[in-house]
Amino acid sequence: MSRYLVTGSAGFIGFHVTNALLQTGAEVTGLDNINDYYDVNLKYARLNELGIEQKQVEWEKLIVSKKYPDYRFIRMSIEDKAGLLNLFNTGEFDYVIHLAAQAGVRYSLENPDAYIRSNLIGFYNIIEACRQYPVKFLLYASSSSVYGNNIKVPFSEGDNVDSPISLYAATKKSNELMAFTYSHLYKIPATGLRFFTVYGPWGRPDMAVYKFTEAIIKNKPVQVYAGGQLQRDFTYIDDIVGGIMSILKEQKNTPPSLILNIGNNNPVTVNSLISEIEVCLDKKAIIEFKEMQKGDVDKTFADITLINSYCGFTPQTSLKNGIRKFCNWYLRYIS
Ligand SMILES: NC(=O)c1ccc[n+]([C@@H]2O[C@H](COP(=O)([O-])OP(=O)(O)OC[C@H]3O[C@@H](n4cnc5c(N)ncnc54)[C@H](O)[C@@H]3O)[C@@H](O)[C@H]2O)c1
Repeated sequence: MSRYLVTGSAGFIGFHVTNALLQTGAEVTGLDNINDYYDVNLKYARLNELGIEQKQVEWEKLIVSKKYPDYRFIRMSIEDKAGLLNLFNTGEFDYVIHLAAQAGVRYSLENPDAYIRSNLIGFYNIIEACRQYPVKFLLYASSSSVYGNNIKVPFSEGDNVDSPISLYAATKKSNELMAFTYSHLYKIPATGLRFFTVYGPWGRPDMAVYKFTEAIIKNKPVQVYAGGQLQRDFTYIDDIVGGIMSILKEQKNTPPSLILNIGNNNPVTVNSLISEIEVCLDKKAIIEFKEMQKGDVDKTFADITLINSYCGFTPQTSLKNGIRKFCNWYLRYIS
């Protein structure tokens, strides 16, 4: 049986990926430091879905899930190099899916240190652990934010990405460079995924879909930047997870270092997103327009030709269906 390490497993994407792997019968170790960048109750609720109870969680202690005997969770920071090396030594992982990071563009203006710690030092520790305890494949999270304010759309993997406009984007671009070097020097097969605005059940409270839904339900103003004209390639979580599972199947033929976009290939304006949420909740938003934020880009739009030819990735979920599923989950979650 293949052994997987999923970092950021109490996070949004990490939770869904862990769940999907467990459904295939894989042996999974989840790692997360459960930081308080957003409500930790949501992180514990995700863990609980997979049989890890909050009261069991202690720093650096491996816990076996009560629901999935092949799932173990450890609370650990990826900045802790010694702890991480020890985990790799005992875990004997075949595959590493590295999703732990300090996410969010706007927060990188407030707390740049968190990005340097998790996304640069933490990333280095992960890739160094993969060198010392060789794995068959490292899949890691990059971001569409590396494209900055590139004019040419859709964004393709071959486009120049030397002008990141946030520190978050700069750390993700740095990850791609570090992964290339380690693949070249030490033959570590590494694939970076440039995620495009992922949304869906168990999603992140700092992102538009969650924030807008919450504000509308609570009769609070929805803060909309740049007149709601910014466009995002909103991508539903099940499509992302399906893509990741297909890449894991295909990875035997992967070149040592690869970067792939994973997005919906259908950008919509923030105003259209709000309309979809209003329809699902059958309630109008109170809009409060704000100036565009520093670091934000005008538009994201994924060219998915490469990932499609590589593993057949084709997004299946329309924004309408995805938002409906998100709203249904959100209403259940808060009740
Ligand atoms: N969700 C998106 O739209 C999106 C878009 C582009 C890129 N990404 C990237 O995908 C990955 C997953 O994103 P997500 O949306 O699930 O975010 P998330 O914040 O929900 O998940 C990340 C998890 O990593 C953990 N973590 C952070 N720093 C850590 C550290 N130093 N040590 C151990 N654990 C740590 C957090 O506690 C969190 O649970 C991230 O790398 C993110 O940058 C996400």
